[in-house]
Amino acid sequence: MTKGSLVDAARHVAIIMDGNGRWAQKRGKPRLFGHHAGSKRVREILQSCPHLGVKYLTIFAFSTENWRRTQEEVAGLMTLFRRYIIREAENLNNNGVRVRFIGDRMRLATSLVDLMDNLEMITRDNDIVHLTIAINYGGRDEVARAAQRLAYDVKSGRLLPKEINEKTLPRYLDTYVLPDPDLLIRTSGEARISNFLLWQAAYSEYDFVDTLWPDFTPAMFEEALARFANRTRRFGGIPA
Ligand code: FPP
Repeated sequence: MTKGSLVDAARHVAIIMDGNGRWAQKRGKPRLFGHHAGSKRVREILQSCPHLGVKYLTIFAFSTENWRRTQEEVAGLMTLFRRYIIREAENLNNNGVRVRFIGDRMRLATSLVDLMDNLEMITRDNDIVHLTIAINYGGRDEVARAAQRLAYDVKSGRLLPKEINEKTLPRYLDTYVLPDPDLLIRTSGEARISNFLLWQAAYSEYDFVDTLWPDFTPAMFEEALARFANRTRRFGGIPA
């Protein structure tokens, strides 16, 4: 790909929405106040995707490690996810957004899983933007769950050990229908990927921005995409 050309548009952007807690604390408010503000940003960033050429948006809403937070914060986040789905379902569907969830649903409340299943179902024919929300997601956990399913397939003879390779293994990941992310953005100034999309982000470009997630505007999103367009991706090779 040439530097800065249109073909360098980031088709799939993954975001680690970090900094909600600090944003709230700076205002003397409880952490959940920051998560609520963060959920409003999700709406705005998603709305900006079609005209920015972003077809796939994948957001990290709750990690397998986030259960270590206080019971109050965990419960508050779970309620926020429920409310978000109920409140946004119609709007998402009307705007042609196809919603998917990744992560292990086993530990989530049935009431939430039912809402997630239903939103996936009602939006399954949409194709304007593909929004993937990671809840109880961890990259290592995903690979371990994939390995388990793969082992069952080998045991039952559906897959031969010699058929396990870089093409067949991703079919067992939660993201099996998605392209790999072109760009991974993390807000709040932390420069790490915290167990997000470990397999899928092997060749993603990373953009770490200092802004806290509730302050991250569509204009900043556009700037990140512009920085991406100016990078030369080599995928281990040599640029043409
Ligand atoms: C990280 O910030 C953020 C989270 C663990 C939650 C992300 C959730 C949202 C943005 C809510 C909306 C999402 C949806 C899909 C409705 P942090 O709390 O770790 O911030 P800190 O590092 O400043 O403490």
